[in-house]
Amino acid sequence: MPAPEAPLSAAPRRPIAGRKSGVMRAAHTANGDVTVRLATVDDIDALVRMRAALIREHAGSAIYGRPRQDLEARARALFAEQLADGQQSCFVAERGGATVGCLRVRESRSSPLLLPSRYGYLSSAYVLPEERREGVLSILVEHALAWCRSRGLVEVRLHVDAMNDGAAKAWEALGFRVAEHLRHRVLTGG
Ligand SMILES: CC(C)(COP(=O)(O)OP(=O)(O)OC[C@H]1O[C@@H](n2cnc3c(N)ncnc32)[C@H](O)[C@@H]1OP(=O)(O)O)[C@@H](O)C(=O)NCCC(=O)NCCS
Repeated sequence: MPAPEAPLSAAPRRPIAGRKSGVMRAAHTANGDVTVRLATVDDIDALVRMRAALIREHAGSAIYGRPRQDLEARARALFAEQLADGQQSCFVAERGGATVGCLRVRESRSSPLLLPSRYGYLSSAYVLPEERREGVLSILVEHALAWCRSRGLVEVRLHVDAMNDGAAKAWEALGFRVAEHLRHRVLTGG
C-alpha cells in the first residue's frame, strides 16, 4: 500500500508571466467565484498532487488501487507529455488564485466499424475534498464539452470505478449514462 498522503490543500499559485491561456468564465458558488482555464506547464505541481490524490482515494479499487511507488514522478512526466499533445487539453478550476480542481479531455477514435468515428474522452476529474458539492466539476465539464463541440465531436465518454458511488452519482447528475461494464480477471500461476 502507498504511504498515506498528507491532506491535500489548495496550493497557492505563483504569478505567471506570459500565461498562454486566460481565465475563461466565472461560476458563482456558495464559497465564491470559481474560474476555469486551460492548464499550462506551470500547473504541473498542482496537477501532479491532484492526480496522486485521485489515485490514492481509489485505494480499494481493482484497477486504480495498485499505484506505483514513483507515482508522482511518473505523473509529472505524463502531464508534461499530455500538455504538449494537440489532441487533448486539461482544464483547471481556481478559486481565489488557488487550484481547486482539474479535468482532462481528449479526442479519441472509435472502432472503424461504428459511429461516431470520434468522441471526447474525459479523465483525471478531481476536486479538492473541501471544495466538493459546490459545482466545480460542473463548470469544468461545461468547458470540456465546449472544447468537444468546437472540434465537431458529438459524444463524450468516461470511465468510473465500480466502487466510486460519489463519482457515479455526480456523472449521472451531469447527464452521463452507464453504457458498458469493464470486467477483469487476475491470472495466477503458470
Ligand atoms: C466526483 C467529483 C469530481 C465531483 O466534483 P464536485 O465539484 O463535487 O461536483 P459538483 O459539485 O459539480 O456536482 C455536480 C453534480 O453531481 C452531484 N454530486 C456531486 N458529488 C456527489 C455525490 N458524492 N453524491 C451525489 N451527488 C453528487 C451534485 O449534486 C451535482 O448535481 P446537480 O447539478 O444536480 O446539483 C469529486 O467528488 C471528486 O473529486 N471526487 C474524488 C475523485 C473522483 O472520484 N473523481 C472522479 C473519477 S471518475
